Amino acid sequence: MRNPVGLKFSPLHPVLAAECKGVDISAPISPEVADAIHDGMDQYGVLVFRQGKALTTEQQLRFTRSLGELEGLYTKIEAEAGARLETPLLSDISNLTPGNELLPAEDRKRQFQMGNRLWHSDSSYKKIPAKYSALCAHVIPPSGGETEFADMRAAWDMLDDVMKEKVKGLTAEHSRIFSKGTLGFQFTEKELHDFVPMPQPLVRTHPRTGRHSLYLSSHAGRIVGWPLPEALMLLRELTEHATQREFVYRHVWRVGDVVMWDNRVTMHRAQPYDDLKYPRDMRRSTLTSGAPALAYTETVPDLATAA
Ligand SMILES: [Fe+2]
Repeated sequence: MRNPVGLKFSPLHPVLAAECKGVDISAPISPEVADAIHDGMDQYGVLVFRQGKALTTEQQLRFTRSLGELEGLYTKIEAEAGARLETPLLSDISNLTPGNELLPAEDRKRQFQMGNRLWHSDSSYKKIPAKYSALCAHVIPPSGGETEFADMRAAWDMLDDVMKEKVKGLTAEHSRIFSKGTLGFQFTEKELHDFVPMPQPLVRTHPRTGRHSLYLSSHAGRIVGWPLPEALMLLRELTEHATQREFVYRHVWRVGDVVMWDNRVTMHRAQPYDDLKYPRDMRRSTLTSGAPALAYTETVPDLATAA
């Protein structure tokens, strides 16, 4: 079925992700098409646009801007290494130096980006975390490098009532110290100072659909008011539940694909590939959710009685 503006959503998985057809996102889109894309995001959590040709920087920024407000992304790690892309508004998800050479094994940026292989929600370590992320494939390796997405709404729905009662109202603390730290990453004094843990609700409510979802991320490393071992066990238990295969869509990339996901209702992770041998060049534009996530919990009165 096509909607009134000619978009068609073809599901790619039983619980999340659809291919969006009938729109050329390299060209400007109308407000009506943007509304239809938001509707698709609300329903599927992940949309795939198979463009066949990678978007230019201008096209990618125009497309994402037509759906909301961009988040600035220039990280300190990238700043130290020098920028490969011409704008800080695109995040460089690649294994390449500013001169387009493969990053060597010991490169700090390479090691930092290994955290992308842990399940996470983008920018959950920020006070105002990300809404949508849109990732465009410019160069892909011959094998590996897929991206997996897990549906946090389905994960909430399938929790038993005892666990729902246990987790609703809890607040987790998120920081890159916790995620990269599990991989043994060594932080500078400045990073240790800058990566202040941010409180986030463990259960979120989508402002448009009213659906609840677990808000998990490898960045989560504490639960406010809980002893550390119990907090880590609960986060691990919930993450194992939320990432079981029936909740996971695995995207096999083609050059030109743009995959956009809603960080409020999904987690994702990159799959390994031979990054010392093959280039992988992906570029991400990100929309801010515009308000701290805790506000959603505070303003949704039905959470306490949600089934
Ligand atoms: Fe990510």
